[in-house]
Amino acid sequence: MKALVLRRHGALDDLAVVNDYPTPKAVDGHVVIRVRAASFNYHDVFTVRGMPGIKVPLPVIIGLDMAGEIEELGPGVSGWKTGDRVLVNPVNKKKGLMGEMLDGGMAEYCLVAADQLVAMPAGVSFEEAAALPVAYGTAHRMLVTHNTVEPGERVLVLGASGGVGTGCVILAKLLGAEVIACASSGGKLDRLKALGADQVVNYRETDWSKWAIEKYGKPQRRSYQGGVDVVINFTGGETWLPSLRCLKRGGKLLVCGATAGYDPKEDLRYVWSFELKIIGSNSFYDDDLAALMQLIAAGKMKPVIDKVLTLDEAREGLRLIESREVIGKVVVRP
Ligand SMILES: NC(=O)c1ccc[n+]([C@@H]2O[C@H](COP(=O)([O-])OP(=O)(O)OC[C@H]3O[C@@H](n4cnc5c(N)ncnc54)[C@H](OP(=O)(O)O)[C@@H]3O)[C@@H](O)[C@H]2O)c1
Repeated sequence: MKALVLRRHGALDDLAVVNDYPTPKAVDGHVVIRVRAASFNYHDVFTVRGMPGIKVPLPVIIGLDMAGEIEELGPGVSGWKTGDRVLVNPVNKKKGLMGEMLDGGMAEYCLVAADQLVAMPAGVSFEEAAALPVAYGTAHRMLVTHNTVEPGERVLVLGASGGVGTGCVILAKLLGAEVIACASSGGKLDRLKALGADQVVNYRETDWSKWAIEKYGKPQRRSYQGGVDVVINFTGGETWLPSLRCLKRGGKLLVCGATAGYDPKEDLRYVWSFELKIIGSNSFYDDDLAALMQLIAAGKMKPVIDKVLTLDEAREGLRLIESREVIGKVVVRP
């Protein structure tokens, strides 16, 4: 079958489309999916480069997120039939992540454990479903499942134009928050405004933390005046300290990643004297994915899909993510 395969860690050039990758056969407790849509995440960039402490069994088909139809059922699988439309939760409970520890979605077919399947309701396309798990599932768990955003709160989203970021903007608006979306270009900010962001800040031109303090007032130690209620930060690096500075007393700093560095400079004085809450969130569960698909089916949200590409064009899609030229998600139709 045709697949996008990583043969060694390095640059994106080390990814290649091959036509002769072995087509999987359904084994005990598993199904084979005909992949109709898959999507990239920044995680795929990390997988191609290689991550410290994670030994990827190469060669591997990359791509964590996928949706499709069941092509073949293995022995012992019940509750599903061929042709069922399914979204795959990319977390395999025994072996780890699809597209990293196991072959992933950037291929015509994929072998999936039956307990990773989530039924797709009518009214949700394969492209929309495949855009969800890693980015929107993570945003859903961080904001909705952990109950971190209240109506009327000021929520500042860094990296708002990305996969997790657009998910946070959409979900924070649905929760009734005032959303401040921060991104690196005017074009991205226009799209974020169209998506419902109340305020937008270009952090290439403006010190976003100072902007927030000027706009909402200096956070106070003895009152709840000034600052923002929530900062969503999966960038890390130099954005960490400014995030602490613009949070109001009792404010929440939500973190689920560190694209620009996981060991930033810290200043604990802000944490205690403003009684800040640092709330980590990791991954997503089937309930998050099912809830997101219900929101789409009910017409309440649409994941932001920047491009839909073929498998032959897929590597270029990952390059666009790496070079920050994407709004939302890049989807591939294998
Ligand atoms: N813990 C979990 O379960 C989990 C799940 C999903 C994702 N994550 C993590 O969350 C982060 C975001 O993932 P994603 O898939 O949403 O990525 P993405 O689609 O590439 O979006 C990230 C956004 O961050 C901004 N950014 C700021 N500084 C950056 C830098 N130095 N390098 C690259 N982008 C930078 C970019 O927007 P601008 O160009 O506008 O600044 C970019 O659009 C990643 O670190 C990922 O590993 C964690």
